[in-house]
Amino acid sequence: GTPETRTPTGAETGVPPTAKGQQGAYLTTAQGARLRDTDHSLKAGARGPVLLQDHHFREKIMHFDHERIPERVVHARGAGAHGVFTSYGTAEGLTRAGFLKKNVETPVFVRFSTVLGSRGSADTVRDTRGFATKFYTEEGTFDLVGNNIPVFFIQDAIKFPDVIHAGKPHPDREIPQAQSAHDTFWDFVSLHTEAQHHTIWNMSDRGIPRSYRTMEGFGVHTFRLVNDAGETVLVKFHWKPKLGVHSLTWEEAQLLSGLDPDFHRRDLYDAIESGAFPEWELGLQVFPDTPEETFAGVDLLDPTKIVPEELAEVQPVGRLVLNRTPTNFFAEVEQVAFHLGHLPPGIDVTNDPLLQGRLFSYLDTQLTRLAGPNFHQIPVNRPHAPVNDMLRDGFHQQAVHAGVAPYRPNSLDGGNPFPAGDAENAFVDVPVRVAEAPKIRQNPASFDDHYSQVRLFWQSMTPVEKDHIIRAYTFELGKVYEQAIKERQLQCLANVDPILCAQVATGLGLPVPEPTQPLAEVAASPALSQVGHVWPPD
Ligand code: HEM
Repeated sequence: GTPETRTPTGAETGVPPTAKGQQGAYLTTAQGARLRDTDHSLKAGARGPVLLQDHHFREKIMHFDHERIPERVVHARGAGAHGVFTSYGTAEGLTRAGFLKKNVETPVFVRFSTVLGSRGSADTVRDTRGFATKFYTEEGTFDLVGNNIPVFFIQDAIKFPDVIHAGKPHPDREIPQAQSAHDTFWDFVSLHTEAQHHTIWNMSDRGIPRSYRTMEGFGVHTFRLVNDAGETVLVKFHWKPKLGVHSLTWEEAQLLSGLDPDFHRRDLYDAIESGAFPEWELGLQVFPDTPEETFAGVDLLDPTKIVPEELAEVQPVGRLVLNRTPTNFFAEVEQVAFHLGHLPPGIDVTNDPLLQGRLFSYLDTQLTRLAGPNFHQIPVNRPHAPVNDMLRDGFHQQAVHAGVAPYRPNSLDGGNPFPAGDAENAFVDVPVRVAEAPKIRQNPASFDDHYSQVRLFWQSMTPVEKDHIIRAYTFELGKVYEQAIKERQLQCLANVDPILCAQVATGLGLPVPEPTQPLAEVAASPALSQVGHVWPPD
């Protein structure tokens, strides 16, 4: 555990390594022995049989046989790129995070994805898109693992296996690859009505982005920032694309699925290779860190809710430019491992129950996907900050750790007494008060409103956008076999808006149901003067 024996950082080894063995003067085995022939197996005579002693044959076939690793359980289809994040310094008063101080340049790797299709599925299907960013900061890696839709289907991570089981292809026929044109998806979202907000975003043009370059990104959850003085604020992260937000039309999306299933991947790589570097601005919505953790009546721990930007403006804090395509898709895009717990000092989590569950899930799945506990040593995952941990051994260990005492304090490797710790630069968990309350399996009452923001979204749409939403619901629900499921979803739409409901019902040839609850009053938002702004920081 001394700094001299640590694993080399990504910066030192160069991410990614650019070995071009196959372009050398001659081929070798994996052991470096020169080969004369890689096209013929060793046989007993020209007509065989093949001899078991042919090590080159066995090594080549063995390695090929094991080239595949499991695809991600969600977000399997993706594309990625390297870039640089430059901070403006505008968040300096809010967080001690060094990479948000003025004019700091931080290398990044971004992976965009669809959620539900498998690795080889088409890019332009109707689905949510992932937008995951790894900032290799000098104080440790920060992963912002977001989506292009600012809300999520569920409020508690314990339902994540359920919503994904419902959204993935049916277990019997393994169709469809697209998100929503099937019975189990609509069964789930009409029974778990907190999903209706995310669903209407999917049915809108946001569900079929034109390009990764024209997508917004959202951290979704509320996070907590802490500054040098120990003061905290609550924030939501936003990525705003420089090119603006643009979508495909449904007809374009369908055609492209056939003509060019790699449309988004190709667009990203072609743009970067031609020097048209994609850009986003990172922004924050900032809220006072009150004990209630609400803002303008919105529960900030409920991931199915947004805070309208009219009530809390998005404040720009830095700029992201993607300027380098991967050298090797597998090594970088496939092996990258994001995690919400990768936080530098100055950024902390909140008690959002969806966020809390994610903190468990990603490490857990990566342990299988990347075969063992050492995937942080894969070049794309290596921090650029110096690493001095006491993690040892395990599958795929690449480091040669010197010393005999990977524990602290010790009296053998110069580790006694253990220095009190580097309080000034270390990550310190914000000592948030934990409620003195009984253990309980229940949502807070503030999570019960499932419709008012769905209605707010619908009412904010232009006529042509509304038309697209009606057509999307009608098309996707039209693929459902069970009539009772269509009727239950129409019932949900009745609680959103009578025109939306009637138009979709007509398209499906079904009766228009009455709402089961009064339509939410969304026009009146709290006066801006009543909202406690904390921007700009002093
Ligand atoms: C993967 C976003 C909720 C489990 C991903 C990825 C993104 C993402 C962008 C792809 C990462 C990559 O490119 O490698 C989100 C967002 C969520 C959310 C924005 C809600 C706000 C959840 C929840 C769970 C979960 C609640 C589980 C409790 C996973 C798993 C992966 C994944 C297992 C695969 C990770 C891997 O194999 O490396 N998520 N997710 N996600 N997510 Fe989520």
